[in-house]
Amino acid sequence: MPTQQRHIGLSLGGDICWPICYEALLKKLDLEIDLNGVTQTFDVERVAIEPFDLRQPVKYDVVIDRLTHWYHTSREWIKKAILTDDLYVFNNPWSLQSMEKHTSYAAMMRLGFPVPDTWVVPPKAYVENPDLERTLKKYAKLFDLEAIGEQIGYPLFMKPYDGGAWVGVTAIHDGDALKRAYDESGTRLMHLQKGVIPNDAFVRCVGLGPQWRFVNYDPSAPLHDRYRMDTDFLSESDEATLSKMTMVINAFFGWDFNSCEALRSNGLWQPIDFANACPDSQVTSLHFHFPWLIKSNIRWSVYCAATDRSMHSNLDWEKYFTIAAKDMSFEEKLDEYAKLAFDYFEYDQFHEFCDRHLSHIDEVAHEFFGTEVVLDAIRQKVMALYPPHEIDMFTELFWNRIQHWRDQGGVG
Ligand SMILES: Nc1ncnc2c1ncn2[C@@H]1O[C@H](COP(=O)(O)OP(=O)(O)OP(=O)(O)O)[C@@H](O)[C@H]1O
Ligand SMILES: [Mg+2]
Repeated sequence: MPTQQRHIGLSLGGDICWPICYEALLKKLDLEIDLNGVTQTFDVERVAIEPFDLRQPVKYDVVIDRLTHWYHTSREWIKKAILTDDLYVFNNPWSLQSMEKHTSYAAMMRLGFPVPDTWVVPPKAYVENPDLERTLKKYAKLFDLEAIGEQIGYPLFMKPYDGGAWVGVTAIHDGDALKRAYDESGTRLMHLQKGVIPNDAFVRCVGLGPQWRFVNYDPSAPLHDRYRMDTDFLSESDEATLSKMTMVINAFFGWDFNSCEALRSNGLWQPIDFANACPDSQVTSLHFHFPWLIKSNIRWSVYCAATDRSMHSNLDWEKYFTIAAKDMSFEEKLDEYAKLAFDYFEYDQFHEFCDRHLSHIDEVAHEFFGTEVVLDAIRQKVMALYPPHEIDMFTELFWNRIQHWRDQGGVG
């Protein structure tokens, strides 16, 4: 049988721990996948940053990108590679460039998702521009901020329309606090969003291709404790709702890797944050869930490389909007959207592929996550993040949590 080597590229910036584990586990798996009369092998390398000719061919079949949301040279290289060489990339760079939090709220509202009421207010301050004064004088209407606050209702959250990493997020309880927060917001364009309060559950559902993981999330805990270690904390129907929501959002925007945050209030799951260009992948926050991420990344990237999955560089929203316009309940619509999303991510074909070609990944990973390579990757990440006197303590903490995952069978 002829052989073909598939090349997987990692486009990296600050990431330390997960690429080490991804590379080592892929090597350990030593894959030889027979597909359509060809034996496929896989190698992985880190993508270099260098000048490029727009006509220069690309060697990679798949690139896992963690850099281009802020580093433009690599983003333009990736866009060129998709257009000229059919490269498959997670995540779609055009979609990431143009679809921030705001777009995702508007689109999912149109699909009927119970996104909390959200307003945009023009910014408090502006960067100088020759047309600024004339434009504002002529067209910017004075508005009553407090009246908008009353209409949304308190508590509400002020947060950047394109935010991330909790920067500029303020919980607001009355009109005075709203005025203060607005005065301090500067040039950033802000959302005012109704607080989902009270709530009795907060879930981060991480999606990677047609795979997902529910994480019980505690935003009030310190960073290393925010991702709780429970696995069986949702009812079957909650799991169905959250997984469908996540898959629909990700398929709609063409995002292979994204996390969707939802809060439950009075039994209703309300998504509040689901446009994450570069979701948390660090062992220092994921710990117990970290092996799932590495395995899921390998499964989906190997599948995409082996099957020449199309990048779907044009998004197709009309079929979702057609369902949205139907006279049906949101639950019924969600089922219909989910069918499109599962189709988009080739759910059945993917699982068949994993059963046939990657069935040993759980066993190999179980052993791998007990090795020195993993311990060293944890230590390197901890050293980059914690002061010297905390390095041993936190390395041990995260290591123990991964061993706890192994003791539980290491499935998932
Ligand atoms: N509408 C809301 N109702 C209740 N809590 C909210 C709401 N919006 C934001 N929060 C709280 O503020 C936190 C940060 O908000 P959000 O997730 O929207 O910002 P972010 O900058 O994207 O953060 P991250 O990158 O960590 O996800 C949330 O984890 C949640 O605790
Ligand atoms: Mg968030």
